[in-house]
Amino acid sequence: MIRVVATTPYDGQKPGTSGLRKKVPVFQQPHYIENFVQALFDSLDAFEGETLVIGGDGRYYNREAIQTVLKMAAAAGFGRVLVGKGGILSTPAASCVIRKHEAFGGIILSASHNPGGPEGDFGIKYNIGNGGPAPEHVTDAIFERSKTIREYRILDGEDVDLDALGITRLGDMVVDVIDPVEDYAELMGELFDFDAIRDLFASGFSMRFDAMSAVTGPYATAILEETLGARPGTVMHGTPLPDFGGHHPDPNLVHAKELCDLVMSEEGPEFGAASDGDGDRNMIIGRGRFVTPSDSLAIIAANAHLAPGYKAGITGIARSMPTSGAADRVADKLGITCYETPTGWKFFGNLLDAGLATVCGEESFGTGSNHVREKDGLWAVLMWLNILATRRQSVAEIVADHWQTYGRNYYTRHDYEEVDSAAADALMADLRARLETLPGTVINGLTVERADDFAYRDPVDGSVTTKQGIRVFFEDGSRIVYRLSGTGTAGATLRIYLERFEPDAARHDLDTQDALAGLVQIARDLPDIEGRTGRSAPTVIT
Ligand code: G1P
Ligand code: ZN
Repeated sequence: MIRVVATTPYDGQKPGTSGLRKKVPVFQQPHYIENFVQALFDSLDAFEGETLVIGGDGRYYNREAIQTVLKMAAAAGFGRVLVGKGGILSTPAASCVIRKHEAFGGIILSASHNPGGPEGDFGIKYNIGNGGPAPEHVTDAIFERSKTIREYRILDGEDVDLDALGITRLGDMVVDVIDPVEDYAELMGELFDFDAIRDLFASGFSMRFDAMSAVTGPYATAILEETLGARPGTVMHGTPLPDFGGHHPDPNLVHAKELCDLVMSEEGPEFGAASDGDGDRNMIIGRGRFVTPSDSLAIIAANAHLAPGYKAGITGIARSMPTSGAADRVADKLGITCYETPTGWKFFGNLLDAGLATVCGEESFGTGSNHVREKDGLWAVLMWLNILATRRQSVAEIVADHWQTYGRNYYTRHDYEEVDSAAADALMADLRARLETLPGTVINGLTVERADDFAYRDPVDGSVTTKQGIRVFFEDGSRIVYRLSGTGTAGATLRIYLERFEPDAARHDLDTQDALAGLVQIARDLPDIEGRTGRSAPTVIT
């Protein structure tokens, strides 16, 4: 029986770049998730009898949310739901399942790399039939609807047993509990040379993969250890936990320190990698050499043809604006275009759908290709393994060789987290107001060449997105970018992206922070970060 429940709107159910993301207690309020899901269904057309994919990253509240979504999907008239066993589907696997089964769309329960647990973060996002995040006109429609919602519809029924594979029913809707790994692993087997990677591991090659007690544990264990023969124990923190073991499931030098220390040591493994809460981010590190995500994108683009799925070459590259220009240099050499998009994976969707780009990436540890419509952590790891297996060089050698050929883009990101929102807004507003006065100004010996607020015109649908970050370019080719995070849940996060190009191979072995020290000082002084926020240093440096 379908129950129609009276409700009242909540404030601020506005999905951001990565869906609706709030603290768990916010989601636990009466009718909160129901309102959002009904607003979503009310914003979609013609899904009667269609298939919906549902899964999450296994964090606290995942199972409860999934039961609610299942019963509401049945009440709304979906014909079939594919749900990952245990409520698990990594974000790229969800994208893969949506595409492979030609589903109408999918609902992913995740707050990505944000901490989990009863006081941690939770999130819900909608992906469309191409497997990618809902475009802005859809998320805007959801938000508008959420402001006027007065009732929602839900099936009265027993909870679905999420731990038993196979088909059951919820009212008229078929519920198929699927193996969350199978479709994804099969796709990886088509893209990469699994035999070559198997040979690499058989030759004694050592690796550690840190699943950070999040969703990629089962995927990495099945693919790396069980399929490719990496030795047991290669995957660390491989069991998904609702609170990620109390850690921050974000693969970077700060939160994956245990792995980094291991790989940086003389006796450590030759190769290390990690992924985040929902499996879309990746970190790549070789013995003695951390690979920045911007360099990783460039190196993947330059070597993609070594993997069977990309042997015909790539048609184009896409990178988010704050990502370094290293990929542009590869694109130049290959004679293809490197598209520069606003931050957020959804901007890659049209380029991938139209065949304008094959690989894409963001400085925020996101890399992927046209195989799905989300960034994909394990994909990047397997691409690196494929490159290592073919070239039979170390990560450090491959990186040095790349810089030798293309030059090195020194790059770092400084984050100021949980800054007072009003202070952060004022800082950005002040920079915006000064854009026209900056060119020609000399700061600490560097002359500003031009400054702007990044705007993007989508080459496929012509849509324009403005105010995507303040860019300050200097005459020596250096660049500073300022933008506010769109994914935080407390206060504001100011991100500063710094980049300087170094063509001279004799100067490729500087420490990154040393190489960028002058620019860092300028970046702090220009908007008077300390005066405005009270912060004398960033909280996270990557
Ligand atoms: C961050 C990253 C961005 C990424 C997003 C979702 O967003 O910077 O590149 O697409 O997470 O993973 P931000 O907090 O900067 O808005
Ligand atoms: Zn993520």
